[in-house]
Amino acid sequence: MPSHLTMRRLVAFALMSMVAATSHRKIDVHSHFLPDFYQQALREVGYTPEDTTHLQFMDKQNISKSYLSISSPGVYLNVPSVNATKQAIDLSRRINVYASQLKVKYPNKFGFFASLPLPDVNASLVEIEYCFTKLHPKPDGVVFMSNFYGLYLGDPALDPVYEALNALNVTIFEHPNTPCSEAIGAMYNIHSEDSGITFKQWRALNRPLDTRQFAIPILDFPFETARIFQDLFISRIPTRFSHLKWIIPHAGGALLSTMDRIVTYSTCYPGLNLTEDSMKETLARSFYFDLAGPWKLASEIPSLQRWVDYTKILWGTDVPWTPWALGAAVAQAFDAQIGDVFDHEEEIDAVSWHNAEQLFGESC
Ligand SMILES: *[C@@H]1O[C@H](CO)[C@@H](O)[C@H](O)[C@H]1NC(C)=O
Ligand SMILES: *[C@@H]1O[C@H](CO)[C@@H](O)[C@H](O)[C@H]1NC(C)=O
Ligand SMILES: *[C@@H]1O[C@H](CO)[C@@H](O)[C@H](O)[C@H]1NC(C)=O
Ligand SMILES: *[C@@H]1O[C@H](CO)[C@@H](O)[C@H](O)[C@H]1NC(C)=O
Ligand SMILES: *[C@@H]1O[C@H](CO)[C@@H](O)[C@H](O)[C@H]1NC(C)=O
Repeated sequence: MPSHLTMRRLVAFALMSMVAATSHRKIDVHSHFLPDFYQQALREVGYTPEDTTHLQFMDKQNISKSYLSISSPGVYLNVPSVNATKQAIDLSRRINVYASQLKVKYPNKFGFFASLPLPDVNASLVEIEYCFTKLHPKPDGVVFMSNFYGLYLGDPALDPVYEALNALNVTIFEHPNTPCSEAIGAMYNIHSEDSGITFKQWRALNRPLDTRQFAIPILDFPFETARIFQDLFISRIPTRFSHLKWIIPHAGGALLSTMDRIVTYSTCYPGLNLTEDSMKETLARSFYFDLAGPWKLASEIPSLQRWVDYTKILWGTDVPWTPWALGAAVAQAFDAQIGDVFDHEEEIDAVSWHNAEQLFGESC
């Protein structure tokens, strides 16, 4: 949710880098939805979401299917307390039912990642069971915020959730969130009385440079994605729960420039056994990276390919939090630039849509 000024600059940047090109068919794995009741809940905590015109956008940009998820801040919209938990449980159920009905209405157009009322682990287990055994059609995966009020993704408290998802072979789409320090995370929990602290105050407590920097997504989000990636590996989640698939957004965020540090310094953690080869093996088995940007593809994709091959790269827009006009510019920049990165049509098709189709196991 960067500021309008920033967005105008980004649109200008994306437009400048665009030249006429053919439009490739695409599947968008990183797109969001904002049901009316969710918009209302967001407004109550101080967000101002836009309205959506998703199908038209998809049609114009040659996007055959979009996988929808709730973006940051997720469904748990107030600092943890008994009341906030109750609201999160209600909201996640409503959203998952709504998204499933959207799939009924537009079976070829939309898939979705279910939302869970984390940090409430037990309630999330209930929601997982509901979504994957009772809800028809089922979700295509679940969305995880990078942290749930300080509950980061390598935390042992999440093991029961990973066990349940692993048994179902679920794909987890990670989405970055406002960072949270452990100390502040420990102050509030799902059993607390209402704290009286607003979501905005809580966010300011956790965010370095909150008053002077641009909106949270620009820098804090990529750092969050790098942080959870290291946390997952230090906690050996990808090898302990090897049936899970992960989509890491924004081409890994700040991850690529830190990957060699993660591998090299892992020798300081006895028993971790993390080598460049084992990292590549695990990534090949369990990880995908989406391209929601904006990026210069000619530098971003080769950096990813140091760690994964083209079959693990997916396409995404981040609309409508990335405004429609910028989403369109990014799609057109992709069409213009992708031919400079790959020589073969097969690779372009793979990244644009075929890898996503394989991952979600469908033929359309
Ligand atoms: C959409 O993409 C497909 C395959 O990449 C292409 O054949 C088709 O012409 C494109 N459609 C439009 C409207 O650009
Ligand atoms: C918490 O929930 C209870 C019961 O629904 C309600 O009476 C109370 O006003 C709520 N407290 C706050 C601060 O919202
Ligand atoms: C979650 O459920 C387990 C097993 O049903 C129970 O032992 C535990 O106390 C519950 N935890 C919370 C925080 O309610
Ligand atoms: C999960 O994947 C494993 C291995 O591919 C398979 O044996 C198992 O039946 C799958 N489980 C479900 C619930 O799809
Ligand atoms: C460490 O990982 C390698 C594969 O990269 C594997 O062959 C080896 O058995 C592992 N060692 C331990 C102690 O897990």
